Amino acid sequence: MKKVRVAILGIGTVGGGTYQILTENHDWIAAARGLDIEVAKVLDKSVDRITAKGVPANKATADLNDILSDPSISIVVETMGGVEPAGTFIMKALSAGKSVVTANKELISKRWSELEATAKKNGAGLYFEASCVGGVPIIRTLNDAMQANRITQLYGIINGTTNYILTEMTEKGKSYAEALKDAQALGYAEADPTADVEGFDAMYKLSILSSLGFHTCIPYSEIYREGITAITPADIAVGKDFGYTLKLLAIGKRDGNDVEVRVHPTFVPNEHPLASVRGSFNAVFLTGDFVDDIMLYGRGAGARPTGSAIVSDVVYCAERSAHVYSDFDNNGKLDSAIKLKKDFESAYYISLKLADRPGVLSKITNILGSYGVSIDKAMQHGVADNYAPVVFFTHKTDETSMRKALHEIETLDVVHSVDAVIRVL
Ligand code: NDP
Ligand code: HSE
Repeated sequence: MKKVRVAILGIGTVGGGTYQILTENHDWIAAARGLDIEVAKVLDKSVDRITAKGVPANKATADLNDILSDPSISIVVETMGGVEPAGTFIMKALSAGKSVVTANKELISKRWSELEATAKKNGAGLYFEASCVGGVPIIRTLNDAMQANRITQLYGIINGTTNYILTEMTEKGKSYAEALKDAQALGYAEADPTADVEGFDAMYKLSILSSLGFHTCIPYSEIYREGITAITPADIAVGKDFGYTLKLLAIGKRDGNDVEVRVHPTFVPNEHPLASVRGSFNAVFLTGDFVDDIMLYGRGAGARPTGSAIVSDVVYCAERSAHVYSDFDNNGKLDSAIKLKKDFESAYYISLKLADRPGVLSKITNILGSYGVSIDKAMQHGVADNYAPVVFFTHKTDETSMRKALHEIETLDVVHSVDAVIRVL
């Protein structure tokens, strides 16, 4: 049986889940795959913290050199998070010829080309299934199961924290703050949850997934991003009344060299499969030119699902003598042939507070009409403080026309406020 010695850097939520799987399922994996995987060292900030997780004291260290200097350790699992010092630790491990398995989407999306170049130079592997969509094998699917296809579109709920928050607000009427606190307690959120709720985490993941799916480098900085912090329970409730569920959606599309990549809250019609993805579950809905639509679904965050993805990479890596790298020019830059579409098309939900006077609605509809924005549905719900809260759902229009129309609407003296603008799938 092949012996594989592994080190884990960071024994928090994901590192802890990884250690648990490698310990509890050691014999199962050995029997199925012929691999005797041993956790040889675990690094964290203090030895006490590591032993508190059940790791024997002789395997606990706070010094990376204990791992780098041990030639019998061939795979380093990075589950510390953040760009630094994780980036330096990974570079050192790769430079020492050790393969790296990481859950760190921020680091991969920001320094993928540099890390991959170092891995290649040293004949080491660099695997990151756990970086995107927790326990769902989306990277393996894109790399190893979709080769026959041009991926034309990818719609994903790819952040567990925000999906958990939106589900709790929608179904249990929890406040945003209460739902976020629960997501943190369950181990779903990033160390700084701003990354989740402002859409950065989904943006990093979309950069990785769209690069793999579209076979070209899609830098994270090119992705349009909005988070969920401006969403109110009132918007969620109106959407519900009209048959929509609110989701933080990551969207990627490729048509020839035209690419569109964006992350923002979206009203998803209840009949769409993504509308039923609840709590910390995630899903990615892909369309390939031959396979048509497929959807992958599972837990997008948490110790056990993410640990599962890490261990799958450890096994994948251990079984290979020649490692697998990107099959596109992974230089960190947008290919000059690719045209990024910023003026994407969407249907919209707009929530306004208007003066409660005759003729006001027609002023709004006239402006929308002058920019070619056609109204699908409209509703006034009561009167509050002499203002009428009104919502519109529009037909599909382009982003520029909608922004120009809203800009003009905001200047009207009968408009108290534009409270929400949410795209509709
Ligand atoms: P945690 O904060 O729970 O765990 C990270 C651990 O690493 C902590 O014990 C932390 O200590 C330790 N650590 C951080 N920096 C250092 C350092 N310089 N030296 C030694 N130890 C260090 O994070 P998670 O497990 O939640 O996340 C880890 C990674 O996995 C991140 O990249 C995250 O994005 C990713 N991920 C997380 C998922 C989840 O569900 N939580 C799912 C998918 C990916 P301290 O707390 O003191 O900083
Ligand atoms: N914070 C991330 C999420 C962890 O909530 O999806 C999984 O990548």
